[in-house]
Amino acid sequence: MSRAPRRTTAPFGRRAAEVTQAERLGAYVLISALDGGGPTDPVPGQFYMLATGERWGGGTDERPYLGRAFSFARARPDPGGLTLQFLLEAIGPGTARLAGLEVGDALLLVGPLGIGFDAPEAPQHALLVGGGIGVAPLLGLADSLEGAPGATLLGFRGAAHAAAGELFSSQPQIATDDGSVGAAGLVTDLLAPHLEGQALDARVYACGPPAMLEAVRALCAAAGVDAQLALESGMACGFGACFGCVVPTRDGLIRLCLDGPVLNADRLDSALVPGAGH
Ligand SMILES: Cc1cc2nc3c(=O)[nH]c(=O)nc-3n(C[C@H](O)[C@H](O)[C@H](O)COP(=O)(O)OP(=O)(O)OC[C@H]3O[C@@H](n4cnc5c(N)ncnc54)[C@H](O)[C@@H]3O)c2cc1C
Ligand code: FES
Repeated sequence: MSRAPRRTTAPFGRRAAEVTQAERLGAYVLISALDGGGPTDPVPGQFYMLATGERWGGGTDERPYLGRAFSFARARPDPGGLTLQFLLEAIGPGTARLAGLEVGDALLLVGPLGIGFDAPEAPQHALLVGGGIGVAPLLGLADSLEGAPGATLLGFRGAAHAAAGELFSSQPQIATDDGSVGAAGLVTDLLAPHLEGQALDARVYACGPPAMLEAVRALCAAAGVDAQLALESGMACGFGACFGCVVPTRDGLIRLCLDGPVLNADRLDSALVPGAGH
């Protein structure tokens, strides 16, 4: 199904935002930064390419060299511009440096980039399904849907990661692999009962690891429920120049940074796209 892209366009070039808060949240770090030079209306699901002002590159192997892609978790207009929040997990050199940012440091960013989530069409219920760090782009979406019918379903490995559930005011249902928080099992176990009899009245919004997204895609296809999936692939530039983020769809190959990262599930034979997921 084709749709008009829901995107806010980024200004040219990289700019500096100022870190206003950096806090640990279980296994994650939540960074807030005041962006005085960008648009104030990014669409949930869009992303920014981030780097630190100091300590980026250098070291023994000169990594990281390129910026790294991050969905914004929340965006709040402020007198000085837009306060952006990013939720991240330190898994490598770039995320480790970003996780070490302190108040007053510069956060270099390009964005917002890509296409975000569509709003549900009334009277559709919005079913938000997040796995691990994939809950990040669902935060802003949940805020924008406050009061609308639907449910937020989150899955995590264990209690340290489930701490991110506290950021949601939409009273999420939580599942953990080890049963330490919420139900023991997978977030797709929480989703399945919500899909029964919902064919025309629900839209699923999902972000998470590829295996979760593929399970969501298959469940929604079987139930005839509309779904939008926020995918990941390795992104070097974030704006269409490097072709590093190409993924296969039923319409052919696309650059995920330009034509995604949010895709309608019916464009995919599988959400297990090459190069995705960590
Ligand atoms: C559109 C988009 C939005 C994202 N949003 C978030 C977010 O909100 N929070 C967050 O923590 N992370 C997010 N990511 C993932 C984040 O970009 C990567 O974790 C980061 O680039 C890793 O950089 P690094 O230098 O720390 O680790 P690297 O050394 O570059 O990578 C560490 C490991 O992660 C894998 N990896 C690296 N980048 C990606 C990627 N983009 N997709 C899949 N696997 C990857 C590598 O293969 C390696 O195994 C997003 C990625 C994309 C494409
Ligand atoms: S990240 Fe360079 S083209 Fe998509």
